[in-house]
Amino acid sequence: MNFLVPVILIGVLLIISFLLILAEKLIGSGGEKIIKLNDDKIIPVTGNNTVLNTLSEHKIFIPSACGGKATCGLCKFKLIDGGEPKPTELPFLSKQELKDGIRLSCQVKVSDNMKIEIPKELLNAKEYKTKVIHIEDLTHDIKLVRFQLIEPNEMIFKPGQYAQLKVPGLDIIRAYSIASHPKETSQIELIIRQVPKGLATTFVHKALEVGDKIILTGPYGDFYLQEESEREMICIAGGSGKAPIRSILYFLRDQGMPRKVRYFFGAVTKKDLYYTEEFKELSKEFPNFEYIPALSAPDPNDDWDGEVGLITEVVDRHTADLTESEAYLCGSPGMIHACIKVLEKHKIRQENVFFDPFS
Ligand SMILES: Cc1cc2nc3c(=O)[nH]c(=O)nc-3n(C[C@H](O)[C@H](O)[C@H](O)COP(=O)(O)OP(=O)(O)OC[C@H]3O[C@@H](n4cnc5c(N)ncnc54)[C@H](O)[C@@H]3O)c2cc1C
Ligand code: FES
Repeated sequence: MNFLVPVILIGVLLIISFLLILAEKLIGSGGEKIIKLNDDKIIPVTGNNTVLNTLSEHKIFIPSACGGKATCGLCKFKLIDGGEPKPTELPFLSKQELKDGIRLSCQVKVSDNMKIEIPKELLNAKEYKTKVIHIEDLTHDIKLVRFQLIEPNEMIFKPGQYAQLKVPGLDIIRAYSIASHPKETSQIELIIRQVPKGLATTFVHKALEVGDKIILTGPYGDFYLQEESEREMICIAGGSGKAPIRSILYFLRDQGMPRKVRYFFGAVTKKDLYYTEEFKELSKEFPNFEYIPALSAPDPNDDWDGEVGLITEVVDRHTADLTESEAYLCGSPGMIHACIKVLEKHKIRQENVFFDPFS
């Protein structure tokens, strides 16, 4: 009699397992579903992967700098008639976005038919096979990396936008602003600062070599030069934040620098400065352009006769009324936040402030 008990138990467990698999197939992951995108494209879906991964499988690339960990907040999309956001999404969604049904695509699974919207520009983002053709030390902790685009062989981007780099071997993706000229569509340059113990930046600084094959996606982002504007510009960057501003300045240089531009760059000591000569030359060529590098804590051996102080203090000292100006800011979220306060003190209009926090 006793030996029958385990047999019965195993039998019951097998039946429960079978029923669970069947239920999942019918209700959850297995069934055929569709995503209707922008009221136009129908995407058939099997499985219940996230919206981010499902779209990526169909070559639609939503920005995802944290690779789906709900820490970058970049992967937003609009879910029409969707459910409640998860707690992981809430820190990234404003009240208005919550009202509008904006969600994080890495946190929402395709468990049923869905109607969604994404900005049309995102449909231009592609996956690129590339080859590293140049690596250069710009400072002790910043490298320039140039990629030859192989397939597709050109990327059309706006000056200021960013690309995403997939780190081979590790399942991670990171965002990097495009530092090169937008007219150079077959090669992309990125400026990458080593973050201590950072996964992607340690790979780039310690392992990446010329000849390596790397996957990039892009272009992404709504931080780019407002080409139709004629306003005076104030650009502020720190560390690797120079990347998108460089692309913007290359673009303006080709047009004969039609707008007055003042560019503040914040570093700690002289060894953190780079492209100084390049920007000094630009200011000699175009009186409309002024380059103001500033050191927050120059080394006694730096022999520095330029601006000294936090970048916020330097901007404050050099700035008059900004009512008719436009600002472009790039760097750490802390730096950007502090600089916006200074710009507001000088009466900049909120709608004329553009920024890309490298978070
Ligand atoms: C739109 C956008 C554009 C960007 N453009 C550039 C660019 O042009 N050049 C560039 O170098 N970076 C840029 N970044 C930052 C970049 O995407 C990575 O976050 C950064 O390189 C760190 O990646 P990691 O994998 O090495 O570090 P992780 O492994 O992700 O992080 C390791 C640790 O470092 C902390 N950390 C992460 N990022 C930073 C940081 N920037 N500074 C200090 N601590 C950090 C993390 O909180 C974590 O504790 C950009 C980010 C965004 C969102
Ligand atoms: S991919 Fe970063 S929050 Fe979704």
